[in-house]
Amino acid sequence: TGAVEFTGAHQAGIVTPAQDRLHFVSFDVITEDRDELVAMLQAWTTAARRMTAGLDAGSVGAVGGGQYDVPDDTGEALGLPPAGLTLTVGFGPTLFTTADGVDRFGLADRRPAPLVELPSFRGDAIDPARSGGDICLQACSNDPQVAVHAIRNLARLGAGVISVRWSQLGFGRTSSTSTGQDTARNLFGFKDGTDNLKAENTSTLDQFVWVGDDDQDWLAGGSYLVARRIRMRIEQWDTATLNDQEQTIGRAKGTGAPLGQQAEFDPVDFTKQVDGEFAVPQTSHVFLAHPTNSGTAILRRGYSFVDGSDGLGRLDAGLFFICYQRDPATGFVQVQQNLRDDAMNEYVQHTSSAVFACPPGVTGPDDWWGRALF
Ligand code: HEM
Repeated sequence: TGAVEFTGAHQAGIVTPAQDRLHFVSFDVITEDRDELVAMLQAWTTAARRMTAGLDAGSVGAVGGGQYDVPDDTGEALGLPPAGLTLTVGFGPTLFTTADGVDRFGLADRRPAPLVELPSFRGDAIDPARSGGDICLQACSNDPQVAVHAIRNLARLGAGVISVRWSQLGFGRTSSTSTGQDTARNLFGFKDGTDNLKAENTSTLDQFVWVGDDDQDWLAGGSYLVARRIRMRIEQWDTATLNDQEQTIGRAKGTGAPLGQQAEFDPVDFTKQVDGEFAVPQTSHVFLAHPTNSGTAILRRGYSFVDGSDGLGRLDAGLFFICYQRDPATGFVQVQQNLRDDAMNEYVQHTSSAVFACPPGVTGPDDWWGRALF
């Protein structure tokens, strides 16, 4: 129920122990006026500081003003604790230059080279209407109403400057980002996040997650966010035998142990054989995703979603995959390319795609989201 500190060297919501609920939103910037954009980011920062501390979005509040004033908070979080609310902002490639090369806000020479649209991958079925965007906000909280309230109020503050392009609700974290957390299960019923990068391992985070000072100055201490809405073919998965499911993932469903080992956190041994076969099949998800074979590591922070059903009697369900890395090319893209022959591909399909550069954390009381960029 507590509050997570909003300020710091890095933005909260990346290595913060993953909360249980997500409201993710991607915006198009609709103004052409750079000053309006800056003013909105300043107003957002003030409101984000307040809401992550459990306060109303504005200083008057939902019911603190006059009877004939429009309230500066929408009210549905009145009386609710922040429940670990974090708000994380990111800037998409199109904020810097449009697809046809227009420098919209004089930021073109500030665009970090790695911030480019992701390539397409085998099996993708990307819906452009829920992909991309100029600015994203990731709200995570242990209370869904708190996360939704935060996004709603920030979108409201941006009226005339931004419009919502697409958004995604997530329930049930599919990753842990701290060694203090239990590993949750995804919609395939498997523990997910066992071998994730964790907050406690700071040297690995410096190596794989935080952008160094060799890139654009304004991004040092930041990170890149990749978001992929991955539809899971639940009904098909549910007809697979337990053995097939475990061979697909490369871990035991009950314990989460790597196949051939006993306990969840036992190290994976890709050389181990059982009856002349590799215990962890070379086509399994874990085999192909593991740093030994992908040559890299990412911090996963995704959530399960069920967006009702699809009109054909199937759940429109899956994993809203989010990962953080210091460079998308050597992070998500490299792992995803290595997963091209993943046995799990039979059961999943990526339906949206986006990439954002997340600036470092807000530090002093006058600092605001993106100050060093503008
Ligand atoms: C590991 C599920 C998509 C990268 C795992 C594990 C499960 C899992 C159950 C094993 C537990 C663990 O170590 O966390 C899924 C499901 C997905 C999905 C259900 C889609 C619906 C992806 C994607 C990527 C990815 C798109 C990256 C491109 C990884 C990595 C590991 C992992 C890096 C850790 C491997 C290791 O070090 O052993 N995933 N995953 N996963 N997954 Fe996924």
